[in-house]
Amino acid sequence: MTAVDESLDVPLSPHATTARTRPHDAFVPRHVGPRADAVATMLRTLGHDSLDALVDAAVPASIRTRARLDVPDALTEPEVLADLRRLAGKNQVREQMIGQGFYPTVTPAVIRRGVLESPAWYTAYTPYQPEISQGRLEALLNFQTVVADLTGLPVANASLLDEATAVAEAVALMVRAGSRRGSAGEGAVLVDADVFRQTRAVVRGRADAAGLHVVVVDLSHGLATARAQLAADGTLAADVPLSGIVVQHPGASGRVRDWGGVVAEAKAAGALVTVATDLLALTLLTTPGELGADIAVGSSQRLGVPLFYGGPHAAFMAVRQGLERSLPGRLVGVSVDADGATAYRLALQTREQHIRREKATSNICTAQALLAITAGMYAVYHGPEGLTAIATRVHEQAVALAAGLRTGGVDVVEGAFFDTVRVSVPGRAGEVLAALDAAGINAFAPDADHVQLTASETTTAQVVVTAAATVVAAATGAGVPVVAGELPGATATGSADATLPGWSRRRTDFLTHPVFHAHRSETALMRYLRRLSDKDLALDRTMIPLGSCTMKLNSAVEMEPISWPGLADIHPYAPASQTEGYRELIETLQQRLAAITGYAAVSVQPNAGSQGELAGLLAVRGYHASRGEGHRDVCLIPASAHGTNAASAALAGMRVVVVATADDGTVELDDLRAKLAQHGPDVAAIMITYPSTHGVYESEVTTVCELVHAAGGQVYVDGANLNALVGLAQPGAFGGDVSHLNLHKTFAIPHGGGGPGVGPVAVAEHLVPFLPGDPFAADASGAAPAAGSAVPVSSTAFGSAGVLPISYAYVALMGADGLREASEVAVLSANYLAARLDAAFPVLYTGPGGLVAHECILDLRALTAATGVTAEDVAKRLMDYGFHAPTLAFPVPGTLMVEPTESEDLAELDRFVEAMLAIRAEIDEVAAGTWTAADSPLRGAPHTAEAVTADEWTAAYSRQQAAYPVPALRGAKYWPPVRRIDGARGDRNLVCSCPPMEDYA
Ligand SMILES: Cc1ncc(COP(=O)(O)O)c(C=O)c1O
Repeated sequence: MTAVDESLDVPLSPHATTARTRPHDAFVPRHVGPRADAVATMLRTLGHDSLDALVDAAVPASIRTRARLDVPDALTEPEVLADLRRLAGKNQVREQMIGQGFYPTVTPAVIRRGVLESPAWYTAYTPYQPEISQGRLEALLNFQTVVADLTGLPVANASLLDEATAVAEAVALMVRAGSRRGSAGEGAVLVDADVFRQTRAVVRGRADAAGLHVVVVDLSHGLATARAQLAADGTLAADVPLSGIVVQHPGASGRVRDWGGVVAEAKAAGALVTVATDLLALTLLTTPGELGADIAVGSSQRLGVPLFYGGPHAAFMAVRQGLERSLPGRLVGVSVDADGATAYRLALQTREQHIRREKATSNICTAQALLAITAGMYAVYHGPEGLTAIATRVHEQAVALAAGLRTGGVDVVEGAFFDTVRVSVPGRAGEVLAALDAAGINAFAPDADHVQLTASETTTAQVVVTAAATVVAAATGAGVPVVAGELPGATATGSADATLPGWSRRRTDFLTHPVFHAHRSETALMRYLRRLSDKDLALDRTMIPLGSCTMKLNSAVEMEPISWPGLADIHPYAPASQTEGYRELIETLQQRLAAITGYAAVSVQPNAGSQGELAGLLAVRGYHASRGEGHRDVCLIPASAHGTNAASAALAGMRVVVVATADDGTVELDDLRAKLAQHGPDVAAIMITYPSTHGVYESEVTTVCELVHAAGGQVYVDGANLNALVGLAQPGAFGGDVSHLNLHKTFAIPHGGGGPGVGPVAVAEHLVPFLPGDPFAADASGAAPAAGSAVPVSSTAFGSAGVLPISYAYVALMGADGLREASEVAVLSANYLAARLDAAFPVLYTGPGGLVAHECILDLRALTAATGVTAEDVAKRLMDYGFHAPTLAFPVPGTLMVEPTESEDLAELDRFVEAMLAIRAEIDEVAAGTWTAADSPLRGAPHTAEAVTADEWTAAYSRQQAAYPVPALRGAKYWPPVRRIDGARGDRNLVCSCPPMEDYA
C-alpha cells in the first residue's frame, strides 16, 4: 500500500483507522459522503460510539453475516478504467450487418454529451413529481410524438423495456381487450413466423406463464389458409376465437409485405392487429395505422442509441383511439398548472402497478426513459427530412448490395425490402458467414441455406462493395477479388424506388410540430437540451431522498466507459468469439453479485426489477413443475409490498394471496400461519421485501422463511432494498431461495429519469437450471419451449448489457470493505434523519434498538387531520426549498418515505433537515390560524419566478416567504418552472403528443 503524506488533505473515511492509510485516489471517500468527523457527529446524535455499534444494534443477529465479502479489494479510478479498457479491447468491433432488431447508428455527439453523458439527464428520477420534471417530460412527449407520427397511430407511451417484451405486452393487451369485448373470449393470438426469433421466444414464454394461447404460424398466405393449416395439424381448432394477430413490418427476413388483406381478415374475425415495426423504415413505408393496425410496437434503438450489446434501448407502443386506457407503461400527458399555464405530467397514473397490484395490466415500473429521450432528440435534431434522408440512404445501400450480389450470380430472394438483403446460398451459409467474418463483417444466417445482410446508417459504399464481393466469392466459389469498387454491378448507391413498390410507400407527413424543425444547428440543440434540463431537479443539484429508490451517486468514472466503441458498438448476436470482453465482464459481475447476496448464481438478463421478479417467479414455477408440483400457484404477498410484486405474480400465472402486515410494519405471523394452513399444498412462494418497504429490519424474517419452507413454498426476497444489506447480511444465507436486485439502485446505475434499469435474478443452487435462457437460441428451431425450461424474459441474453460496466466499476471501486461501509453509512444517515425529524414528523416504524434501516417513513396523518396540510403539500413545498420530495404515499398513504443514501454528506442532510423543520413551522402557523391550509404557502407551492415577481400578489403570505423561506436559498435558488399541476384535468382531456405552440403563449 502507498504511504500517505499526513499533511495531504485526504478525504477522511468514516473508518478513522483506515482513513489515513488511504491513498489520495481512493474512490470510497468520493462515493461515501460523510467525512469521519461528520460520522462522529451523526453517531453522537444517535447515542452510539461507532458505526459497528450502530449496525449491531440495528441489524438482527439472526441475519447478520460477519464474514468479509468475497469480492476483491477496492481499485482506484485509473485502475478500474484500465481494467475496463482491457475488457473492451477483448471485444471486436465489426461492420454489424446482422440486423434482427439491432442496427448501428450515429449518436450525434451533441446528444451523446448533452443527454447520455450528462448528469442533468441521467441522474434524474422518474417524473412522479411533475413540477420539477418539466424538462424530461417535454423530452418524453417528443418521443411519444415521434412514435405516434411514424406509426400513424394517435397515442404512444413513453417507452417499454425492449421490443420482445413490448410485443408480449401487446399480445396481453389484445387478449384483455378481446375478453372485454366478449366476442373473442380468451381467444388465441397468431404470431406470424416472420417475426424476430427473440420476440417469438419471449412472447411464447410469457404467454405460457399467463395461460394465453399463442401460436406461431406463417400468415403470408392469408389468415384463412393459416387457420386451415392449424386446424388440419391439430394445433388450433377452427372454432377457437381469435383475440389478435401479430405481424412484423418489415419482417425478420427483411421482406416488406402488403399485410392489408390479412389485417382485413383479422378484423372480420373480430381480432385485433399488432404490427411490430421499425421507426426508421416508417419514414418511407406505409404506416401500421394505414395498414389498419390497432397496436404498433418496436424498438427505437436505431434512432441514435448505440447497440450496447443488446440494450438498454427504448421500445415503444402506440395504439389506436379507444385503447389508450389499456396501454401499458407510462404516458406523458398535457395539463395546466394552478396559473393556467401548459404543463406536463404522467397521465392515467391510476393504471400503474403500484395502484392496481395484481389487477395491473403490466408490471412495468422502470422503463427506458433516458434512451427514449435520446431517440426523441435524434428526431428533433434531424427532423423529418433528416430522418427520411437517413432511411433513404440505408435503403439505397441495401439496393446497391442486392444489385452487386445479383450481378455476381447470387440469388437474392425475391420481395420488396427496406434494409435487409436475403440471399439463397444452399448449404453454404456457414462458409459465407465465415468469409464475411474474415472481411470484418457480421451477417446473419437464419438457416443453413440463407444469409442476410442489413444496411444501416453507418454502412458505407466501401462496406457494400466488400460485402457483395465476399458473399459472391464464398457462395459461388468464383473467387471475385475483394477490392473496393471493382465488383461489376455493385454501385455505390442504388435507386430508392427499385424495390419498394408503390403500395408500400408512405404518403403522409410526419413530425410537423415545430419542435422537429427548430433545433437543426448544434448551437440550437445544445441550448434546447440545457433549457429543458434546467427546468428539472436531478442529483446534480440536490439530494433525492426517495424511499425505496436509493438515489445514490452515479459516478462519472462508472459512466465513462459505456460509450467506448468496444462496449457500445457490439451487436447482441455477434459471435461469441467477438464478445470475450463482455462475457468476462458479465461473468465476473454475476459472480460478485452472487457472492454479495449469498446465492449460487445470478442472471443479469432481466432489464428491470419487475422483470427480475418475473424471471424469479418463473424459475419457482419451473422448479415446482420439475418436481411434479406444478399445481402450486399461490403467491403470498404482504399487504405493504411494492405493486410490481403482485403484478409479476399475476404475469407468472400465480394467484396472489395477501398476508397482513402488523402494526409495526412486520409480516403478521399469525396471518401467515393461517394463510399457509389454508393454501399450504398450493403455495408456490412468498414474496417479501427485506428490509421491508417499511424501512425496518424485521427480526422475524427467518421465521417467515422457515414457515414457508415447511409448507413446501419458495421464499422470494425482493432485493430492491439491498443497500441496507450489502456486507451486513445475505438474503441467500438467511432463507431466500431467489431474489432480484435493482442495479439501478444499489449498484449505481443511474435512474435516467425512469430507466434504464437492470434487475438481475439471483438464485439458490436448486433454481439454477431455471434461470432465463437465451431468447435468440431458444426459439431457433421454431419449436415450443419444453415445460419447465428456462424462459427468456428479454430480447437478448444479457438484457441491458451496455450499462453493466457501471455496476462492474462500482463493485471494483468500492471493494469488499467499501461496499460494507456504504451500507453502514446508508443506515447511519437514515437514522440521523429519523432522529432529527422525529419530533416534527413522527417516524412511523422502527425496528431493533428503536432504529430504522436505510430509510424511514415520516407520518403526516395526525398533522393532516389537525391542520388539513397534506403530505403532498409538504412534497410540493420542498420544491420551493430546492429539494426533490421523498417518496409520497408509499407504502402508507399520508406519509413520506425518506432514503438519503450513503452518498449525501452531512451538510446536505442538514440542509434537508432545515427545510423540513421550516416546513413544520409553516404547518404550525396553519395550526395557529395565521393562514388556512388553503391559503398557506404549503398549498400555494411550488412558486414560480413569474408568480412571485408578478405585479399583483394576493397571497396571504409574503413573496419572501414564498420564494426564500430560508436564507440559504439566496445563494442557490431553484425556480420551479410551473405551479402545482392539475392532474385530474389532464386525465379527463388526454393529450399525449406535443401541443400546438399557441398553447405556450
Ligand atoms: C421494493 C421494490 N420492488 C420492486 C421494484 C421494481 O423495480 P423496477 O422499477 O426496476 O421494475 C421496486 C421499484 O421501485 C421496488 O421499490
